[in-house]
Amino acid sequence: MSIHDPLLAFRREFPIVETCTYLVSHSLGAMPRRTADNLRAYADTWASRGVRAWHEGWWEIGRVTGDLLAPILDVATGTISMHQNVTVAQGIIASCHRYDGPRRRIVMTDLEFPSNHYLFEGFRRYGAEIVYVESTDPIRIDLERLIDAIDDRTVLVPLSLVLFKSSYITDAKTVIEKAHRVGARVILDVYQAAGAVPMDLRGWETDFAVGGSVKWLCGGPGAGYLYVRPDLARELEPALAGWAAHDEPFAFATGRIKYAGAPERFQSGTPNVPALYAARAGYEIVAEIGVDRIREKSLRLTRRLIDAALAAGYRVNTPRLDAERGGTVTIDVPDGARVTDELIRRDVIVDYRPGAGIRMAPHFYNTEEEIDRAIGTLKEIVGESVGRSSA
Ligand SMILES: Cc1ncc(COP(=O)(O)O)c(C=O)c1O
Repeated sequence: MSIHDPLLAFRREFPIVETCTYLVSHSLGAMPRRTADNLRAYADTWASRGVRAWHEGWWEIGRVTGDLLAPILDVATGTISMHQNVTVAQGIIASCHRYDGPRRRIVMTDLEFPSNHYLFEGFRRYGAEIVYVESTDPIRIDLERLIDAIDDRTVLVPLSLVLFKSSYITDAKTVIEKAHRVGARVILDVYQAAGAVPMDLRGWETDFAVGGSVKWLCGGPGAGYLYVRPDLARELEPALAGWAAHDEPFAFATGRIKYAGAPERFQSGTPNVPALYAARAGYEIVAEIGVDRIREKSLRLTRRLIDAALAAGYRVNTPRLDAERGGTVTIDVPDGARVTDELIRRDVIVDYRPGAGIRMAPHFYNTEEEIDRAIGTLKEIVGESVGRSSA
């Protein structure tokens, strides 16, 4: 029997959940109904106010949006700047550092999201050395090896708080402590955690945190964010800077930049206004519910998914321990890519990652019945394949 679930009251805010079994919030969170109103307000403002809109809220929209996000990430207001995506936010932080002295290493694991590898590989041309820490297990990073690899030659450690393939929660606190002991800094990628898994960025003394709004925050694309620890934010000077990072942008001074205070000094140029209008509704709903309540429900539904998948005899490539698991469950079945296509054709919306399996992610708007339907449909499809191959 289903227990009473107050979070289901928010279901009506998300039209798509009435049309399919939507279990893909680790990839694209459902769109809140009011996002359409916000985008309409953006278009109306542009149409009716024209250029005056910049001085009626558009110019400050990055800071205002960052401040809406701050309680969800549990950080102070005025510490978050908004960017196109994670790569841009990481690039801005990377551009605050030097790679031509003895401290030139960037240390990261092989389980990071590939963008991290691509971006920092590019910094070899500025002298950076890239150190990849191999994991023996496809689900977990090797914490001991990572800690050992961080030393006084390390400048930056990009680290995911929740791994994108297995949903494993890394021990960010321990990594940050080690980095600080040897004078290095950690860029924590909280994309797969924000809005689903509580975090203690302040308590861990996190240097930088980056993420986006596409997934658990239900904010859509184009609203990436960058948190910088306040004491660092005062001293860092990004090379990747534009006129919006200047202390007096409307003076249009040429030559060397005079940096604004934080968070504006990390903002490159014109803010991504429509994306920031779009992002607001998801943030408001997630903040209203609270990440702790989302987490409590997420653990209940992911446990149900794992139990059902194991009972069906499937391999689960996600930690079984609640404390180690984010919001996604990765289930490995033979021919996973094709099975995923067939699940989607039958209106169970999930995705597939090579080397990991089918990723399913319940969010606050999902029901226990949807979990059962997803696993039931998966069993049907796998059963049909087995039937076909033995026929
Ligand atoms: C952990 C993590 N980091 C980064 C990204 C990519 O972010 P962006 O497209 O905003 O650069 C993703 C996207 O799936 C992700 O899961």
